[in-house]
Amino acid sequence: MMNTCVHVKVPATSANLGPGFDSLGLALSLYNEVYFWTDDTAKGITVTVTGEGKGIETLPAEENLVVKSIQSALVATGNTLPRGGRLHLVNRIPFKRGLGSSSAAIVGGLLVGNQLAGNTLRKNQLLALATEIEGHPDNVAPALFGGLTVSIMVDQKPLTHTLRLPQELQFVVVIPEIEIETETARKILPAQVDRQTAIYNMGRIGYLLSSLWLHQYDQLQEAMQDKIHVPYRLPLIRGGKEALQAALAAGAHGATISGSGSTLLAVATTKTQEIARAMTEAFASQQVAVQTHILSGVDTGASGVIEEKR
Ligand code: HSE
Repeated sequence: MMNTCVHVKVPATSANLGPGFDSLGLALSLYNEVYFWTDDTAKGITVTVTGEGKGIETLPAEENLVVKSIQSALVATGNTLPRGGRLHLVNRIPFKRGLGSSSAAIVGGLLVGNQLAGNTLRKNQLLALATEIEGHPDNVAPALFGGLTVSIMVDQKPLTHTLRLPQELQFVVVIPEIEIETETARKILPAQVDRQTAIYNMGRIGYLLSSLWLHQYDQLQEAMQDKIHVPYRLPLIRGGKEALQAALAAGAHGATISGSGSTLLAVATTKTQEIARAMTEAFASQQVAVQTHILSGVDTGASGVIEEKR
């Protein structure tokens, strides 16, 4: 019998970018990798993990989000999950921190399933499946396509435009030890907003995109302001307010919460080490430990290949 190894790489993502709640997202140069070996002699799928989320290998395989997503792609192509196999996850994206770890798991699984199915699903079909599983397109779109993505929902189906990020931009990503469940961070938001709030956010989404288009970053912090989610979520991140202020004082053009938090994302063209240090110190002054990464935006999204057949 022929066995196959599929290898997939998926970037971390940062959603919202301030005003673009559930719509904007960007892909970052931090990757999870997924390896899947089919094994016709095995019964069931075994899961091993290195890096973040080590405990998840103890979950039954059918509850693993990557396995479920492999199955979704296979079902969508009229196939079934292989009888046996081994899944190995190299996780570099921390869990529950607003950097798209669940989107990376979904997109990673879908790409594995699609490779096993002979690569028959197109990226837009993968986007629709990923959005259905995740619930909103803003993280899954950049994970799949790379770049800066602008997504809308039309009759429950996502439409996405992918823009190239200006090369000179760097992203200082500061990840506090605080875990935030996206579901909890969504429940605390008001169900409705008034017209002034809608106008405030709509104008800023346009201004943010035009600032990037024009490579004009002097008003980026104003463009990244938001009234729909940030004011409600920032209090969940001890030291977050101080760290955002520290980022700007140290030279960031703009800074906000990444996704639903707890990570903060600062956008810069210079002084990235100083910004990371200032944000780390602001968190430390509130007794919060952090990890930091200085990342670039990536224009290529997830990729999958069949590495070996024997
Ligand atoms: N747009 C989502 C939110 C991203 O902010 O809740 C997190 O998955």
